[in-house]
Amino acid sequence: MSGIEKVGVIGGGLMGSGITEVAARAGLDVVVIEISADAAKAAAERVEGSLRKAESRGKIEPAEVTAVLDRIRFETDLETLADRDLVVEAASEDEKVKLELFRTLGQVLTQDDAILASNTSSIPIVKLGAVSGRANHVMGVHFFNPAPVMQLVELIPSLTTSPDTLDRMRSWVTETLGKKPIDATDRAGFVVNSLLVPYLLSAIRMYEAGYASAADIDRGMVLGCGHPMGPLALSDLIGLDTVKAIGQSMYDEFKEPLYSPPPLLDRMVDAGLLGKKSGQGFYGYEG
Ligand code: 3HC
Repeated sequence: MSGIEKVGVIGGGLMGSGITEVAARAGLDVVVIEISADAAKAAAERVEGSLRKAESRGKIEPAEVTAVLDRIRFETDLETLADRDLVVEAASEDEKVKLELFRTLGQVLTQDDAILASNTSSIPIVKLGAVSGRANHVMGVHFFNPAPVMQLVELIPSLTTSPDTLDRMRSWVTETLGKKPIDATDRAGFVVNSLLVPYLLSAIRMYEAGYASAADIDRGMVLGCGHPMGPLALSDLIGLDTVKAIGQSMYDEFKEPLYSPPPLLDRMVDAGLLGKKSGQGFYGYEG
């Protein structure tokens, strides 16, 4: 048993809102922290929108949607996380932002065995542990987008994570959330992004060089390899800013050119073309 019932989630963006939905649907009490009242409202709408979509697909009963929403609070003050058993940080993929959050959260949590987890995909967990002042209770727990649908969670203990923290997170992920974990070591990209990100960046380079249209690159991988979606559509789903940030962190760690974000990706991010979440990436999205 993980003993984790009261959960905090930092950030109500794509991943944070998905993790919130998963935890609240598992019956847990969830507090989501956003940076402003407007962002908190947007996060609440994101979670409700996803639940309504699940309801319209018959995945969840209408009464259960109400019950799930009642288990979630949206706040802007980190101090409201003081009583949490677990906080999952899902802020933007920016090392400075995460270090500052872990420094503060290490002081905010009042329970000695409260766990601080990061949903980072590439930032060293050991650094987050070090600044928190409670490194043995810090680890990575990496969900996949869309979190309510994707089964996988990567579990990433750092050199300083205690075996008990890893055991409790494994039990939370499998028994409470019903997800399927794999174990990864604390290296940028972990298992899945180490394989996925070079593939996505190669597809962007291919498009940039004019090999083929975006639609044909994606159709190639969907129809030729049986992937559920092509690499450019998947980059749009993940968020082009996130793809760039992960590639950059992996490049910083390994200095391998295949991880280096191509110029087109830089330009699209600079232009605010972030994919599905901004309405335009390699494809346009309405609503
Ligand atoms: N709760 C429960 N079920 C839900 C749901 C929710 N909130 N939202 C959707 N679903 C269900 C739908 O009902 C549907 O179920 P069904 O197959 O039984 O009918 C199923 O999920 C698929 O949903 P949709 O029909 O809306 O969408 P698609 O069939 O077009 O599939 C997709 C969309 C699941 C995104 C699929 O295209 C896919 O698997 N794509 C690949 C996603 C992927 O690779 N993600 C990993 C990205 S990498 C990452 O996240 C790591 C990061 O660090 C970069």
